[in-house]
Parts: sequence; C-alpha cells; structure tokens
Amino acid sequence: MNDTFKKLPDTVMLDESAPALVIIDQTLLPTELKLISLYEQDEIWGAIKKLKVRGAPAIGVAAGIALYLAAHAIYKKGVCDGTEFLCKLKEAKDYLASSRPTAVNLFWALDRMYKAAELFIKGGGTVEACIDRLCEECKAIRDEDIASSRAIGEYGLTLLKDGFGILTHCNAGQLATVRYGTALAPIHVGREKGMKFKVYCDETRPLLQGARLSSYELMCDGVDTTVICDNMASQVMKDGKIQAVIVGADRIAANGDAANKIGTSGVAILAKYYGIPFYVAAPRSTIDVTLKSGELIPIEQRKPDEVTEMWYESRMAPQGVGVFNPAFDVTPNELITAIITECGIIKPNYTENIAKIMEVKK
Ligand code: MRU
Repeated sequence: MNDTFKKLPDTVMLDESAPALVIIDQTLLPTELKLISLYEQDEIWGAIKKLKVRGAPAIGVAAGIALYLAAHAIYKKGVCDGTEFLCKLKEAKDYLASSRPTAVNLFWALDRMYKAAELFIKGGGTVEACIDRLCEECKAIRDEDIASSRAIGEYGLTLLKDGFGILTHCNAGQLATVRYGTALAPIHVGREKGMKFKVYCDETRPLLQGARLSSYELMCDGVDTTVICDNMASQVMKDGKIQAVIVGADRIAANGDAANKIGTSGVAILAKYYGIPFYVAAPRSTIDVTLKSGELIPIEQRKPDEVTEMWYESRMAPQGVGVFNPAFDVTPNELITAIITECGIIKPNYTENIAKIMEVKK
C-alpha cells in the first residue's frame, strides 16, 4: 500500500487553543492530504462554497464550529451586552447559512447553535459564559455526528453480505462526515469486522467526488475499489456486479423523497430496472420534516465552468454554449428500498415511518 493510503484524520475538527476550525482541504485530494485551519467567517464561508469541506453532515459540523468562532470573535471585540451579542450572532448565522442551499444539516446546526445561545442569554447567562456554552454545543454536534455515522454503519451492515458488489455515487463517506460516513459507513464498519466488499464508485461529474474522494477514502481503508464513469453504471449492474446501491442525502423530505448529488436519481432508476436494492443512508439531521415532498427542496445551481473547464487541460465546450449545472437531484421515495438512519432502518410507508423515527429519543 502506498503510504498516502493511510487511515484518515477526522474530516472536521475544532482546535480549541486557537480557536480554529480545522478541516481536510478536499479540493486537494487525492493528490495531497492537507489539514487547514480556518479562523474568519469569510474564509469558512468560502471553504464551504468551494467544497473544501463538503457533504451534508460535515458541512453541519463545520457550521456549528464556525458559529462558535463567530461568538468568540464578537466577545473579543468587546461586546458584553446579551441583546447586542445575539443580534451579531444572528448576522453571522445568516451569513454562514447563505453559503450553500441544499444540505439541510447546515441550517440545522446553525439553528441549534443559535438557539443554545439564545436560551443561555435569555436565562440570565453572561456573554462570556455563553462562549463556553457554545463551545460545548459544537463539540456535542461533532460527537453526535461520529456516533450517528457509526450507528448508520452498524444498521447498514445488516443489509449487506460478505462479498457484495456495492455501487455508490458522490462521496457520502468519512470525508462527508467527521468519521465513518453515511453511505460508506457500512463498508468501513464491515471492513473492521473482516468483511470484504467490491465497491464501484461513480466518478460523479462534474466535481468528481466519486473518483477523487470515495475511491481515495476506500483505498485508505484497504477496500477493493473500482472507479467507473457515471455512464457505466447500467453496464456494471447488467453484468451482475452490483448487489446493492448505497448513497447519502443532502435533504430528505417528510415523504422520503431524497435530494443527493446530481445523477443519484438516474442510478435509482437503473437499480429499479435491474432489481437491485437502492439504499439512502443519512442521519436524522438530514431529514427536513417541514418539507412535505422533494419538490420543495431548494437545489443549488453552480458555476458553468465546473462543467466546461474544470479538470480539463483546456476548455472542452464551445465558448457561449448554454450550461445547466444543478448540484443535486431528488430521488422519488418509490425508488428507495430503505433509508438507513442512526436510529434504525426505515422502509415504506415513509411518511408514517419517518414521523415515527423523528420521535425516537436518543
Ligand atoms: O456537493 P457535495 O459534494 O457537498 O455533495 C455531497 C453529497 O451529495 C453527499 O452524497 C451528501 O451530502 C451526503 S454526505 C454524507
């Protein structure tokens, strides 16, 4: 094994001494494994936008830490009045929330942090003590993410057998969470238990999360990994190489419709055609019960040059051509065999069973 293929550090970390948000810069992978420290709101906003940190749960954890850093900076500037502090914290929260629209974990984590601050200040706490409170809360979000990912791995593994061929799309692995991942968690957990899988990673145009990230992460863990172009998925399924598809999600509506990386819905349609189970793995923080169906999920549109130029030595499409670059699509619930969460596996009827799982106390 090449020595770049070693186990990875956590994807998102808090350096309490600085304080700083520390992330693996995913734009450099797989060529370089580099940790970077981020301090200012602008650089964190940019890191989320540019996908230096990406994947719904990882974005949530990073945003939680970012709001703690914002609170710290507001206090250091001399703001000691609770009302003024909350007002400035809300500005920081709204700013961070504008970085990406689809992954609901971003909004979930920011709201959770802000509510913790509001409750603390309105309960008579000082701004100084609130900084410690927010530090605890962002660490709790991080720790819960690790525990959820692990549990998703254990539950997901019950759906797999040793020797399975598994197809995945985008990266919903450790690099999209803090540790283990969602879609790739059952594979990492199975690997720990000595099971062997053969994993096919869709390259995932246009940003290549499958080719660059999933394949790297799986190889770090010693998993038998094959990259395919997105348009080869049908062929590998037809050839009988795939016994299960597992993907992540950026937002799951109350009826089970699931937004994930562009191309996911096509994979789900293929899986249905070939009679292969199609699983979505996600923590409950990815479920947005305020949205009745997937049609209401906001879909991020990204810059045209990701399609026409990025990764190519020179531009590959004529100047002036129209480009459509939605970052996500929505897989309708009827194509989803089951949703794997940290509290168990949900099967249809999703509207009823999602409502039930959201009630489960941790
Ligand atoms: O644009 P990205 O790379 O952030 O998209 C990520 C995905 O679509 C993941 O599959 C999803 O966030 C789930 S990550 C556990």
